[in-house]
Amino acid sequence: MAEKIFLGVAWPYSNGSLHIGQIAGAYLPADIFARYHRAAGNEVLMVSGSDQHGTPITVRAEQEGRTPGEVVAAFHQEFLESWQGLGISWDLYTTTGTQNHARVSQDIFLRLLEKGDIYKALMKLPYCAVEQRFLLDRYVEGTCPLCAYEHARGDQCDNCGNILDPEDLRDARCKFDGSEPEMRESEHFFIRLTAYNDRLGEWLRRDKGHWRKNVVNFSLGIIQQGLRDRSITRDLQWGVPVPVPGYENKRIYVWFEAVIGYLSAAIEWAERTGQPQKWRDFWQDPACKTYYFMGKDNIPFHTLIWPAQLMGYGEATGERYNLPYDVPANQNLTIRGSKASTSRRLAVWVPDYLSRYDPDPLRYYLAATMPETSDSDFTWADFVRRNNDELVATWGNLVNRVLTFIYRHCERAVPQPGELTDADRALISRAERAICEAGEQVSRCNFRAGLEAAMATAREANRYVEENAPWKLVKEDRERCATVLYTALAVISGLNVALSPYLPFTCQTLHGYLGHEGPLQTAGWRLEPPAPGRPLAEAQPLFKKLDPAIVEEEEGRLGA
Ligand code: MF3
Ligand code: ZN
Repeated sequence: MAEKIFLGVAWPYSNGSLHIGQIAGAYLPADIFARYHRAAGNEVLMVSGSDQHGTPITVRAEQEGRTPGEVVAAFHQEFLESWQGLGISWDLYTTTGTQNHARVSQDIFLRLLEKGDIYKALMKLPYCAVEQRFLLDRYVEGTCPLCAYEHARGDQCDNCGNILDPEDLRDARCKFDGSEPEMRESEHFFIRLTAYNDRLGEWLRRDKGHWRKNVVNFSLGIIQQGLRDRSITRDLQWGVPVPVPGYENKRIYVWFEAVIGYLSAAIEWAERTGQPQKWRDFWQDPACKTYYFMGKDNIPFHTLIWPAQLMGYGEATGERYNLPYDVPANQNLTIRGSKASTSRRLAVWVPDYLSRYDPDPLRYYLAATMPETSDSDFTWADFVRRNNDELVATWGNLVNRVLTFIYRHCERAVPQPGELTDADRALISRAERAICEAGEQVSRCNFRAGLEAAMATAREANRYVEENAPWKLVKEDRERCATVLYTALAVISGLNVALSPYLPFTCQTLHGYLGHEGPLQTAGWRLEPPAPGRPLAEAQPLFKKLDPAIVEEEEGRLGA
């Protein structure tokens, strides 16, 4: 029976180009997962959008003398091009700047306020006398009270991942002028997370065997320390307005409203597709599994705060909202040993990559080295090696030599096989198993293992072609030659299915070379044996060998 699968993918701040660390951390695993489930016949909704609010945006706008609106509009447009170039197959990619998002966010705010889960209180906040403003989130830095890292920000420590409040920082200083802020009182709204601590703990301990251990343990660690209530409004002009009279100069804190984007985007998607109630299939049907993809910095917002918001909203409205089924957060993709960063501008930028190279080699590389359980380091040398020695030499070479040979020697059509030997049949069943195995692994969010299942079979198929040497058989035994080529072709079309979530562009091209019309996505998650006599198209190489000289060139561009 078809499953329902909802994917929420972290909303990138639109304050700088996307970099490959974000792709490896969230967008590529989500896309592979979505493509697999669609091919397997499941009903998928994959949403996200540009995160337009918060100090990451206003800091950048101030640095560049532009308005926040100008900054987010420019990068949102660029993100749309990057998604297209990389083949990230959103059902909806929107922004947090829509009316719909503001409406849904304000509704959740008001419902929790009525319920008593949001309350007003005075708090002491760092205030910069030099700049005459409150210092919050990314405007203030200091020493982390938990791990002693010296460059923790007012909202989160990049070193230990804990979420902070500005008054937690030791030796706080203004990020811009370095001055020591004074503490001033201001009235803000707080979310009563203390009321959810026990319920979240119970939920995190129940049926989480399929979660990554580090994700559960990190979240339970915070529960054991005890969640604190958190302020969810800011003294800012940029963001979703607080829907309470008298608070016109405050905005809802970006982390309170950005996660609400998962729900508001589903509602927007349903409206746009002309079935305005359809979002309920994904949010309110208990059979729908909801997955959240992100880098590890975002874990507490998705495993604690968002679930608490959903629990509270569900109780306030008397409706059900599905809690995350899984949060397969990734570790970091590092460059020269440190985490790629938009604000620090050390990264391989997606638009820059796409201006020189094809998308599938990057998808291949990032999937093969995906930081699923520990950080992995990106190097251009490794990228070139994996492209040339794995993608080109194993998979590309298998496809190219078999298809070119058949095209030349078998009347440009699928050869009519004689009787298959045990070895022929064994190889075809191995390809069938590779499809199952890849699907299993992807559905459990083991993306490296899914790719390896397909690539191991491609290596096996290369050995089969070597051993059976059709280029000799063509002169000696034409029937055996046709059988060997048929077997290799069946395996190739099977592997093309298994690889399609990883390499969507080249797999679609190959689908055409194999004589099919229409999208590969609708061909099903199975090996369809090629029909003898079906005309084939003339194949071109799917991948290019890369010149090792690019390594030095690209290393020179890094961090420039
Ligand atoms: N904008 C945040 C970041 O780039 C992520 C927000 S994810 C969301 O780190 F769920 F809150 F939207
Ligand atoms: Zn810390």
